[in-house]
Amino acid sequence: MRNFPLFPEQASTFAVAIDQIALVLTLLATFFFLLVGSIAVIFIWRYRRGSGASRAGAHDHHLGLELTWTLIPLAMALAMFFWAAKVYAEVYGPPPKEALEIFVMGKQWMWHLQHPNGIRENNELHIPVGRPVKLIMISQDVIHSFFVPAFRIKKDVLPGRYQTVWFIPTKVGKYRLFCAEYCGTQHSLMGGWIYVMEPTEYAQWLATGGGTLAGGVAAAGGTMEAAGEALFKQLGCNQCHDAPGAAQARCPSLKGLYGSKVKLQDGKTVIADDNYIRESILDPNAKIVAGYQPVMPNYANLLNEDKVLQLLAYIQSLSGTQTGGGK
Ligand code: CUA
Repeated sequence: MRNFPLFPEQASTFAVAIDQIALVLTLLATFFFLLVGSIAVIFIWRYRRGSGASRAGAHDHHLGLELTWTLIPLAMALAMFFWAAKVYAEVYGPPPKEALEIFVMGKQWMWHLQHPNGIRENNELHIPVGRPVKLIMISQDVIHSFFVPAFRIKKDVLPGRYQTVWFIPTKVGKYRLFCAEYCGTQHSLMGGWIYVMEPTEYAQWLATGGGTLAGGVAAAGGTMEAAGEALFKQLGCNQCHDAPGAAQARCPSLKGLYGSKVKLQDGKTVIADDNYIRESILDPNAKIVAGYQPVMPNYANLLNEDKVLQLLAYIQSLSGTQTGGGK
């Protein structure tokens, strides 16, 4: 039994909170199973047909008893609900501002990961211990699911829309990464390792382009931001967005856009998050900014997910949003 752990290692701040909830739920369920089960067995035995137990003075109502077995479990269930909801809101809520951003692309059947400084990794991710990490994830084909048991995170990775998840690794080490959504014949092989490193070791890893360790591919094209900027010019986006002169009037500025509130033509307001920006690049007419005409061409056929992520990194940088390490 010694080599058969019931739980994966606890290697993120969420792990402890989630395990506590699982443990308390299991204990509560066990307690009530034993309580109700044993009372049932005792009564079944005692009042079985033909037993001599007295049936005199039977109640068909007992208000106090009914209130007790209604209100106490109700209070317990509500306490569990608020406790679990609080942890849920933290896990699936927005990550801290200083989070290190990692771009994740799932495809049959591997994980592509890219650091903001351009380092790419396949089926491996190197991160520093103690720092929040935010994953921006998208699939190139079918639905996958990014699952790291030691961090207690699991999130579906969908085609056509960004999903994010975050965590703070608390322990240096090597942890399993899985795909947790059946995605085709080699689904079971779609996985890898997360390496949590000491910050100094991580800084060194970044400085050497990740190339000295297995799996890392040196950043050939510079940072994602720089790649995005080059692409931005190559596609001619800069001839309109934030262009000097009259051209500027035709399209909204991208400076300070990321994370801001955008007023649309139909009167609605949206937050310019990752998914809004992705949609506005691939399907510009889906949401028209108030005061502008739908004149932007559609880039859906010119860009793959990789390139959209680069543009996203660049547009983020225009708002001074830091995208993590490797500066
Ligand atoms: Cu990807 Cu299962």
